Amino acid sequence: MDKFSTLVKSIANIFGAVITLVLVIFLGVLFYQTYPGLFIKKSVAEKVQEWTPRDIDLAIAEGFGDKKVEYGYQLVTDSPNQMGPGAEDPKIRYAGNHLACTNCHLDAGTRPGSASWVGITERFPQFSNRSNSEGTLEDRINGCMERSMDGEMLPKGSREMEAIIAYMDWLSQDIPEDRKAEFKGFPSIKIPDFAVDLEKGAALYQVECVRCHGETGQGIKKTGSAGGFYLYPPLWGEDSYNDGAGMHRVITASNFIKGNMPFGEASRDNPKLTDEEAYHLAGYINSFSRPEKENKEKDFPDLKLKPVSTPYGPWADDFPADQHKYGPFQPIKDFYKERYGLNKSQ
Ligand code: HEC
Ligand code: HEC
Repeated sequence: MDKFSTLVKSIANIFGAVITLVLVIFLGVLFYQTYPGLFIKKSVAEKVQEWTPRDIDLAIAEGFGDKKVEYGYQLVTDSPNQMGPGAEDPKIRYAGNHLACTNCHLDAGTRPGSASWVGITERFPQFSNRSNSEGTLEDRINGCMERSMDGEMLPKGSREMEAIIAYMDWLSQDIPEDRKAEFKGFPSIKIPDFAVDLEKGAALYQVECVRCHGETGQGIKKTGSAGGFYLYPPLWGEDSYNDGAGMHRVITASNFIKGNMPFGEASRDNPKLTDEEAYHLAGYINSFSRPEKENKEKDFPDLKLKPVSTPYGPWADDFPADQHKYGPFQPIKDFYKERYGLNKSQ
């Protein structure tokens, strides 16, 4: 009898232990599924891959309190109404057209391949070929104010300039070293050996661009927007960037278009157009009239440093104006290489 009850007890104990074990395993699996992050040790590379740029809308939704940064964000995304023709206070109507900074610097300045501002405060001050001197971030912003926005400089120390810098500074925090390069500049196309073909550009425009930017390149304004904010910005004409802007250079515009257009279908790592297509299109949109910047002849005091596709003179070479505008650029690049030992990328 005693032996028998010992046996029963032992069996009961074993049974209990098995059940406990099963329970522990079950709970363990459940816990693992709920918090897998606690069990997997991520490699540094994975963490770097996962990093995404700061998102101000998200920050505001979570109760972000920095008014200066928020104002900077409004200025760059709603430029026409905040510091352009639609601004309430005439004293701060600095921008001359209805573009927003972020029509070219996409996703509020955070999109790789669109000269993003992620990490920008680290990249300045920087030597500027256009002024042949060391330039600050303020100078660079004013470069876009006077040209891309066809307007006036923001005074240094103004509330507007300080806010834009604060926003860019905020975007430039905590970027993993390995991710910095992808947020810099535009991707570069391989520049074709031949000149832009405007007929090819026109035909491509009908297929890839006209549905948003319109038959006459004038874009489409957002309905119900008081100051005239664009849903699809204009590519030429009176309300576009002026002839002194970087986008008016065929090589720069090709790079931008390749990495970003057609909008929603192209990205830096997944472009839609070929290099040649982007090139013909860049020439085509820049073949129409646009506002004229004054004193352009004073740009690039050292003329050797002028990008080969700068469409306005004077130049330190004898190539015709048309070739500076539409290419072929290789002979011009070869000339600077042989004569001055300069390797020009644009
Ligand atoms: C029409 C398009 C366009 C608009 C609008 C525009 N930019 Fe730019 N921006 C450019 C181009 C093109 C470059 C030069 C890229 C290059 O040289 O390769 C540039 C460069 C810059 C840079 C330097 C980027 C770098 O990595 O060195 C800053 C900063 C900048 N823009 C700020 C602004 C601000 C602020 C506004 C609005 C006030 C603005 N931009 C509006 C096209 C534009
Ligand atoms: C689906 C609509 C759409 C299509 C198609 C499209 N774009 Fe755009 N484009 C946009 C939008 C929207 C912006 C402004 C982006 C922003 O504000 O986020 C823009 C901006 C631009 C800009 C810079 C801003 C300016 O006004 O100068 C250029 C240049 C441009 N597009 C050229 C082209 C070209 C060339 C094509 C054809 C390959 C094209 N786009 C096709 C919607 C489009």
